[in-house]
Amino acid sequence: MPVKHPAPGDLEPIERASRDELQALQLQRLQATLQHAYEHVPHYRAAFDAKGVHPSDCKTLADLAQFPFTTKADLRTQYPFGMFAVPREKVVRVHASSGTTGKPTVVGYTQGDIDRWADLVARSIRAAGGRAGDIVHVAYGYGLFTGGLGAHYGAERLGCTVVPMSGGQTEKQVQLIRDFKPDIIMVTPSYMQVIVEEFRREGVDPREMSIGVGIFGAEPWTEEMRRDIERSAGIDAVDIYGLSEVMGPGVASECIETKDGPVVWEDHFYPEIIDPETGAVLPYDDLKGSAEGELVFTTLTKEALPVIRYRTRDLTRLLPPTARSMRRMGKIVGRSDDMLIIRGVNLFPTQIEELVLQQGQLSGQYQLVVTRDGPLDDVTVRCEVQPAFAAADRAAIAAELRHRIKTLIGVTTAVDVGLPDSIERTLVGKARRVVDQRPR
Ligand code: DLL
Repeated sequence: MPVKHPAPGDLEPIERASRDELQALQLQRLQATLQHAYEHVPHYRAAFDAKGVHPSDCKTLADLAQFPFTTKADLRTQYPFGMFAVPREKVVRVHASSGTTGKPTVVGYTQGDIDRWADLVARSIRAAGGRAGDIVHVAYGYGLFTGGLGAHYGAERLGCTVVPMSGGQTEKQVQLIRDFKPDIIMVTPSYMQVIVEEFRREGVDPREMSIGVGIFGAEPWTEEMRRDIERSAGIDAVDIYGLSEVMGPGVASECIETKDGPVVWEDHFYPEIIDPETGAVLPYDDLKGSAEGELVFTTLTKEALPVIRYRTRDLTRLLPPTARSMRRMGKIVGRSDDMLIIRGVNLFPTQIEELVLQQGQLSGQYQLVVTRDGPLDDVTVRCEVQPAFAAADRAAIAAELRHRIKTLIGVTTAVDVGLPDSIERTLVGKARRVVDQRPR
């Protein structure tokens, strides 16, 4: 595939602005966001007051470090709409992502937020080499997950023809790709590998497919995976990053001409890297970037859900600008919490714990065993019956738990219910809830 370099007129002026211009815009937007959050969200007012800071204390970008962090737990305590900074009637859409327990994290958007989101995903697709008139096959899930609709609105905004396929139905995916001949696919990288395998199963060389570029994200992936997909599908693979709490896909996205890590769209999101243990901001060097730590974002233009210093729990580093005036992020190398991403669905062990504990025949002991079958991860939930149920039908108990996990969390797992005491107890230190058997 010839790599499409952007023509001068392709970029928005801010993508080429000087660092000084960009930082002036960031400061102005940051001050307005802090003020907006303080005035309209009781949670922020209380949190700022408790820390003894006021929006007017933010005179430079570095002053942001004085402000309190926001966590998933904060969003949870304000469930469902307590973090909104505008009257509910101004919220034109909500999305939701997994909370650490049964209640999801709810996010909301004004019409202006939806517009800016579409612009940023359009910018991301353009950075990946997409142009108006391209056909874009969207295989991220549609619904409460931000992937499908986020990609969809952005591709439309760029002027593309969108195929809103959503996830699953692999044979249908392949049929539509063969018949509609899309130029671009937007999908999780692991599911792309499944699509490639389906091509082969049908006796078709995946490298013959029309697609030139894949825009992959929603889960961690490596440079090895990039090479594997590029080689097996004969496409360019670029990385798109985002999270619902901050917006959705398109917080950062990679440029096809460099493929050197997603560019953080810094005119809308201010990134910091912190030490996850102490919360201290790690220094950023203009030449070397920052050390590895936890990525923290403050939104600069969000109306319905401004987020101040949101702790993403994603571990990575900030890198100096290359193809754009904005800084890049490295690959996500891990998380500072125990969230798993299984087939694109975020999963916290505590969500499983809650369901295990609700089922009276089971003891509270459980483990999640994560394995890899081809490109996709699988989870087996291991748990055990209480002694009083030693003679019960364990297969039936397992089937019930499996069904509840599927309907309440939305992820398909195997469930293995053993005899009392069959799960290894951790006698010292933290219980080992996740047994990761995936090959490194
Ligand atoms: O996954 C939004 C998204 C959709 C991004 C489609 C890209 C494409 P959440 O469901 O809230 O939102 O999950 C966010 O997924 O904190 C990361 O841990 C992980 N993640 C997202 N993109 C990447 C990526 C969407 N490119 C969580 N690389 C984030 C590694 C990613 N991890």
